[in-house]
Amino acid sequence: MDFYKSKILGTGIYAPKKILTNKELESIVETSDEWIFERTGIRERRICSTEGGEWPTDMALYATRDALVEAKLTPNDIDLILFASVTPDVPLPNSASILQTKLGITNECGCLDISAACSGFVYGLNMANAMIQTGFLKNVLIVASEMLSREVDWKDRSSCILFGDGCGVAILGRNESNDGSQILSSNIHADGTGKEFFYQPYGRAVAPLTTQMIEEGSHYMKMKGKEMFKVATRTLAKNAKDALDKVHVSINDVNWIIPHQANVRIIETACKILGLNNLDNVIINIERWGNTSAATIPLAFHEAVKDGRIKRGDLVLFDTFGAGLTSGATLLRY
Ligand code: ACO
Repeated sequence: MDFYKSKILGTGIYAPKKILTNKELESIVETSDEWIFERTGIRERRICSTEGGEWPTDMALYATRDALVEAKLTPNDIDLILFASVTPDVPLPNSASILQTKLGITNECGCLDISAACSGFVYGLNMANAMIQTGFLKNVLIVASEMLSREVDWKDRSSCILFGDGCGVAILGRNESNDGSQILSSNIHADGTGKEFFYQPYGRAVAPLTTQMIEEGSHYMKMKGKEMFKVATRTLAKNAKDALDKVHVSINDVNWIIPHQANVRIIETACKILGLNNLDNVIINIERWGNTSAATIPLAFHEAVKDGRIKRGDLVLFDTFGAGLTSGATLLRY
């Protein structure tokens, strides 16, 4: 079997136009800018328009156009779309297929949605890498696009303050040059025993939506914040260590760590467990975005590449966790 290396050829992001600050949240739930910033590191988040033009597949379209330009590819060069989201445009068809038509792709490429909550992008990246390595596919578009503002309970101050909307995409393609860019190590995991730490119990097969559910707000996402916090710090540290140990790389040799942006205190704790003395090499943008679920890592990666922090040749570690409880890590040479 052929064995190829894969490389991130291009990235793109989309930021919804509306900014919702902590100050503005003070008039929605009983909270304060100080409480939110101290406990989470968040100051503001983006919120999609409900008038159209900023649905998850729209955001993905705008972000992908930029990624294609950077990758020097046309839409028909894409062999597969992996679309990670817990807030798809509609239940059927899948968002990847909707995006395929929006991009004008006519090559009938495969289209698959990934439901792995915040871990969706890392899951997609690692799956795409496996498919490129074996020669099965050449260019895979991995999308993470979320409109969480639709699914959070705006009466629940313990969760609504955390989340935001946004989109990040990456095109992973076969590395045709010998420049060293490649994915060095990856893992994906899940522990279903913690499924009730963060879940949405109603609205599908088990309990289709009723007017009563909507009136009571019982269909929104439910989260046990403290339980999630503990699992998050443990799994982030473990998966990062496993990914590094597999290829005998020390955490101190990694140029940039990009953890899932759920809470700055989770990031600090996980990094401490990993033996980091400071956060100088950790990309953190939660202050401006909040938790955008699957989109946090591609958003942070794109921003850090564009502002010049991450350079070609750098060792970069993606590290994530989410509802499920899903988790995973990717160590790559960019
Ligand atoms: N504003 C003001 N007070 C608040 C707020 C708020 N927004 N929310 C909760 N409080 C109050 C509580 O009622 C509680 O008051 P009490 O002591 O009188 O009962 C007090 O603040 C402390 O609440 P805690 O829940 O103990 O606060 P904690 O420090 O644990 O922070 C938080 C809560 C921010 C939710 C934290 O637990 C967390 O970030 N957990 C992880 C969440 C997470 O990762 N979620 C997503 C995972 S998956 C994914 O990313 C999609």
